[in-house]
Amino acid sequence: MPNHYLPFSFMKIFGKIEDITAALAQIRAQKKTVGFVPTMGALHKGHMSLVLRARENDVVVSSIFVNPTQFNNPEDLKKYPRTLDKDLAMLESSQNDIVFNPDVGEMYPSNEREEHFEFDGLDTVMEGKFRPGHFNGVARVVSKLFRIVEPDRAYFGEKDYQQLLIIKKISEKLFPEMNIVACPTVREPDGLAMSSRNALLDETSRSEAALISRALFQVRELKDKLNVTELEKLVSDKINSSSSLRVEYFEIADERNLQPLTEINEHARAFIAVLAGKIRLIDNLSLNF
Ligand code: PAJ
Repeated sequence: MPNHYLPFSFMKIFGKIEDITAALAQIRAQKKTVGFVPTMGALHKGHMSLVLRARENDVVVSSIFVNPTQFNNPEDLKKYPRTLDKDLAMLESSQNDIVFNPDVGEMYPSNEREEHFEFDGLDTVMEGKFRPGHFNGVARVVSKLFRIVEPDRAYFGEKDYQQLLIIKKISEKLFPEMNIVACPTVREPDGLAMSSRNALLDETSRSEAALISRALFQVRELKDKLNVTELEKLVSDKINSSSSLRVEYFEIADERNLQPLTEINEHARAFIAVLAGKIRLIDNLSLNF
């Protein structure tokens, strides 16, 4: 039985593994396909684009779980936005069928040993370098969710491009039957990549944050005129000259393996992390068009 009902809703909300597993077993017995969208809630149009894409399956399952093991900074976990009622209303209006919203004890029983994953070097650069342990936490929770939901297809945003590659890597090994579907980054009208963390920005940081994507699009425009070192300088000068933003890293890397490039090729992608006060924002853009 679902342990939570919205009034007048057909969407089912489960908090217990046992309950969602039973509901999904019935769905699978009817030979229906299942699309899965894992999230940490505080949903926005970027998340919704994944849910809408997942409608290509018979049934759409989303999860909302703020996963403590992927937060290397306890402050970040504490202030992560939580907007469950609004999230459920958004999912409902996007015709999501099932929501899995477990608590921490359900996902991480206290007697459990920490699982360790191998990412073949994808986790030693960029986000992996600046957020130690982050991707192991992501892989832990996503592999648990995959084992519970057993979807035919799972949907991830290019906004978190390194995460997408890491999920593809573990899925090839652990869930070879499952398809990982990459979805393009959804942006605000001023170009800022939508993110749950944008809600935490103060007014100045929010208006200056448009510089991040503007710098990436400028790199794409100038990639044949300037070399990589000049492009790096252009980006850090542009962003660091604002009052509230500081570049943590900017890299041009091969989008197949995330190794830094000294010359731009057809697989080049620009990656950036910026600190707006204590709020960390990331973005990336393919340099091919
Ligand atoms: P979260 O940040 O909530 O993102 C959930 C999914 O939405 C991810 O696949 C992310 O890439 C995608 N997404 C976020 N912003 C987007 C945007 N502007 N455009 C397109 N897609 C966007 O990523 C996580 O949660 C967690 O690490 C998770 C995978 C759920 C594991 O805990």
